[in-house]
Amino acid sequence: MALLTPRSGRGSPTVTNGGMGLAEIAKRHRWAVELLAPVKGEQVLEIGCGHGIATGLLLKAGAAVVAVDRSDKMITACIKRNAGLGSLTAFASAFETLELGPFDAALAVNVDFPRQKDTGWARAMAKAVKPGGRLVLVLEAPAIRTADRFAMEAAAGLVGVGFEVDTELREGMVAVKGVRVGAANRG
Ligand SMILES: C[S@@+](CC[C@H](N)C(=O)[O-])C[C@H]1O[C@@H](n2cnc3c(N)ncnc32)[C@H](O)[C@@H]1O
Repeated sequence: MALLTPRSGRGSPTVTNGGMGLAEIAKRHRWAVELLAPVKGEQVLEIGCGHGIATGLLLKAGAAVVAVDRSDKMITACIKRNAGLGSLTAFASAFETLELGPFDAALAVNVDFPRQKDTGWARAMAKAVKPGGRLVLVLEAPAIRTADRFAMEAAAGLVGVGFEVDTELREGMVAVKGVRVGAANRG
């Protein structure tokens, strides 16, 4: 595993859990990984990994994971939680500022990109995912209005950069699933 802090000029923080207990696997993590359906040996990007809970599920499925979070504290927790589980590289950075991949698949759970100042998140996702590769965004959205707003705005952003998109609702959560159009999925 590696902890890298590219372009920030900051040093790597010490790897401790800073007194944080292990956060629990929630239904949003399980659903997101189920929808992504990682295959052993795939290269998968998790954006906004937080404590690294979905990262752990991806590693257990045999994926090689790159986890990114703009919080040093979260990256430290992610590394601590997933020590020894598999191939994990972690970056403390806003993912839009990185040039990573392209990956077979990418995932973001409870990261409300459309609500953030537009940092080019959709374009960055298109660069990060291979043609034919998959993308899953899951948001907990107890109110249908929130689910609709996220689904419509995220889908519009992704269609605009070359993803085919589908959306799904389940138990207070919404998923936006994308496949990047390109050579790999032309019949
Ligand atoms: C609400 S938390 C969700 C954490 C985790 N995915 C989960 O569901 O348990 C959102 C996380 O995304 C990170 N984040 C938000 N925007 C980001 C970006 N543009 N690049 C990297 N990390 C980001 C935040 O630092 C935060 O840790």
